[in-house]
Amino acid sequence: MAFKIFATLFLVIAITGHYHARASMLDRDFYNEDCPEFEMIVAATVQSFLNRDHTVPPGLLRLVFHDAFVGGLDSSVMLNSSSGPDPPERDARPNLSLHGFEVIDAIKEQLEEVCPETVSCSDILALAARDAVALGALKDLPSPFENTTALLKKFRNRGFSAEEMVVLQGGGHSIGVGHCPFFRDRYSNFSGTAQPDPALNPTHAIFLKASCDPNGNAAVANDHGSAHLLDNHYFLNIQKGKGLFNSDQEFYSDSRTRKSIDKYAASSEKFYLDFIKAMEKMSELGVLTGSHGSIRTHCAIAK
Ligand code: HEM
Repeated sequence: MAFKIFATLFLVIAITGHYHARASMLDRDFYNEDCPEFEMIVAATVQSFLNRDHTVPPGLLRLVFHDAFVGGLDSSVMLNSSSGPDPPERDARPNLSLHGFEVIDAIKEQLEEVCPETVSCSDILALAARDAVALGALKDLPSPFENTTALLKKFRNRGFSAEEMVVLQGGGHSIGVGHCPFFRDRYSNFSGTAQPDPALNPTHAIFLKASCDPNGNAAVANDHGSAHLLDNHYFLNIQKGKGLFNSDQEFYSDSRTRKSIDKYAASSEKFYLDFIKAMEKMSELGVLTGSHGSIRTHCAIAK
């Protein structure tokens, strides 16, 4: 298993060592100044597609391969027939089953809004493939774009009840921040409807839009109004439709999780008690003891 993850990471680093657009040399930090939102937008978009379609990682990886092998990674494989009189590379027989173009298009659309004419299609493709492969390997982690059923399954697989899931997410999200790409769709184009999320409080939608639109990668407090205290205020926000991520808010629309939100909103004491218990349980997950584990000299290095 460890080898598998290592091999994946190796591959990932190999395919995206650097970005190219306009530079004479490849540079990993190329977009840091002109488009700092780049990596976050790619990661969030890839994640949202991945939740609906597990074929995204292989699709993007093959796109990189087919593009790079013919004339280098120049995103020529993405051009469609509207680009000129010659038949596009994309219509060549070996390329007919390529897929994943829609992920790149969705990323590009957002980037053109935030930093127009800055990020090349090749760089988007390379980074999206990296993220898809890495996120695919980490698919057990919950995503804010998943629905309650999917999240319940992930927590149940780790031995947590619905209530434990609610208290863990609520406690965790009672502090810290979330970046706009993780929730932008909720105030603008929820699930492709061109409408805000109906579960999102309209006043809060205006606030989120104002916080994000001038700077696509802004960070907003997870728990509006009580950003720095680990407390049960988060649950009061959820009751008012002021949850930040779709996954937070959905718990209040689902009968399996709604009552726990009401319970923790009503009692700070119950929240603290259950949060502590659930955190203890989480810290005991899969712990290696005795000769099964090891003491590393440096935490970043396996041996
Ligand atoms: C349903 C499961 C969960 C989902 C889908 C989820 C998703 C997210 C997302 C998307 C962010 C924003 C990341 C960013 O923009 O940089 C975030 C932030 C955060 N999450 Fe969660 N999360 C979940 C459960 C948890 C749990 C169980 C905890 C801890 C007990 C937790 C603790 C946090 C904290 C503290 C932050 C803020 C980090 C910071 O400010 O740097 N989350 N979460």
